[in-house]
Amino acid sequence: MIEKSFFIRIIGCQMNVYDGDKLRGELLSRGWREADGEDGADFVVFLTCSVRERAEQKAASEIGKFGKKWKKSRSPRLALLGCMAARIGSGLARKFPWIAVTAGPAHIGLVPDAMDRALETGERFIADRETQAADPISCAPRGRGNPHKAYITVANGCDQFCAYCIVPYVRGRFASRAPEDVLAEARALARNGVVEITLLGQNVDAYGRDFDGDARGRFASLLNDVSAIGGLRRVRFATSHPSDFTDDILDVMRDRPNICPSINLPVQAGSNSVLRGMNRRYTRDEYVSLVRRIRAALPESAVTTDLIVGFPGETEEEFEQSVTLFEELRFDLAHTAAYSPRDGTPAANRPDQVPPVERARRLVRLNGVQAEISREINASMVGRIYEVLLDEPAPRGEGLLQGRTATDKVVLVRAPLEMAGTFREARVTGSSPWCLEGELV
Ligand code: SAM
Ligand code: SF4
Ligand code: F3S
Repeated sequence: MIEKSFFIRIIGCQMNVYDGDKLRGELLSRGWREADGEDGADFVVFLTCSVRERAEQKAASEIGKFGKKWKKSRSPRLALLGCMAARIGSGLARKFPWIAVTAGPAHIGLVPDAMDRALETGERFIADRETQAADPISCAPRGRGNPHKAYITVANGCDQFCAYCIVPYVRGRFASRAPEDVLAEARALARNGVVEITLLGQNVDAYGRDFDGDARGRFASLLNDVSAIGGLRRVRFATSHPSDFTDDILDVMRDRPNICPSINLPVQAGSNSVLRGMNRRYTRDEYVSLVRRIRAALPESAVTTDLIVGFPGETEEEFEQSVTLFEELRFDLAHTAAYSPRDGTPAANRPDQVPPVERARRLVRLNGVQAEISREINASMVGRIYEVLLDEPAPRGEGLLQGRTATDKVVLVRAPLEMAGTFREARVTGSSPWCLEGELV
């Protein structure tokens, strides 16, 4: 048998990490070997993102770089996957002959065969909109990127059609997986030593709505069942949508201490007129009262959010309402972004685009406000002891491991690599807006 090796690179969100994990599992079970880096791999698998223009530019420049290597030695071949592949993969493959396989998320199940064929016969595989959707990869979850923590996508795609967002066009319609599939996968992961699972969906709270039009109780029940699996010390979920998040989820979180009290609840804007333009289906007041209900039910919880500045038509006053919302709600963390027009989405065609320099200015201002809030919240944790799941080495700092609290705060501690994957108590000794420092107790 010829040896076949691959290397996976990921740009984009946790859904790409999950797709990469499934693909890794399937390739390993077919006898492929995972290479340590791009050099030395027969195939580099690239999972791409389309959410903002910058993510696509980054991928495009990487794809260009492959050309130089490939022209010299016809290796490595490139498998261009993920959301950008769904959008423009077939066009890119026409331009760049080193793209041997391209397929978006709906066609990832066809990729392992296509990669085998590409190596064995040189045949290229280019999926496009006409290609019939395939079953997803159904391999047993093995060979995950991280041995202690794993993601499970519980619902693919999205039906919300927020006016700025490309995801429904590249990931397809909202499609929940059967609860028994999710549970079987979670049990298999737990048996393999995974201690933390994050359930993923663009709108997990709507889980099961596509079964019969009624999502009531379905996500809460799934969460409850996953959290009951022996060996799972932590269960997380993302992302929640403010108009679908229901109190039964809070009830389950209160009942099951291994469901982590951290909730990502993207607000996207602080003003009602911008929220309407974005097609977000809730008002600022409704959002504020939901956050207050979450905090009342789970006083130790951390709430994080996502917000876009400079959406078309956003005035200075409307932007200031995003600032006042941050000041009012004091999120633990915020993923903020300057609006990036995405071709094919309704907002991209609006004539009232905010100039890029103004978007950039608003982003800097809002990030400054949030940094101060996160700095204060994190400083208030100094001196307290938290349970952390120690994980991989910290990106900077010799001998430091990165851990996370139940509320998903990063804690850096001096600890040997063998402790990765274990739960330890750590006293917080220092803080910044982005992370905590701690010592094992
Ligand atoms: N489903 C989640 C939600 O409802 O917020 C998040 C989905 S999206 C993959 C992740 C984040 O990217 C969004 O929360 C949004 O803030 C940001 N985003 C999406 N489209 C964007 C755009 N056109 N420009 C800038 N940021 C964008
Ligand atoms: Fe995009 Fe909106 Fe769906 Fe989130 S809910 S993925 S922002 S369309
Ligand atoms: Fe990007 Fe696709 Fe995720 S567009 S953020 S990789 S769903």
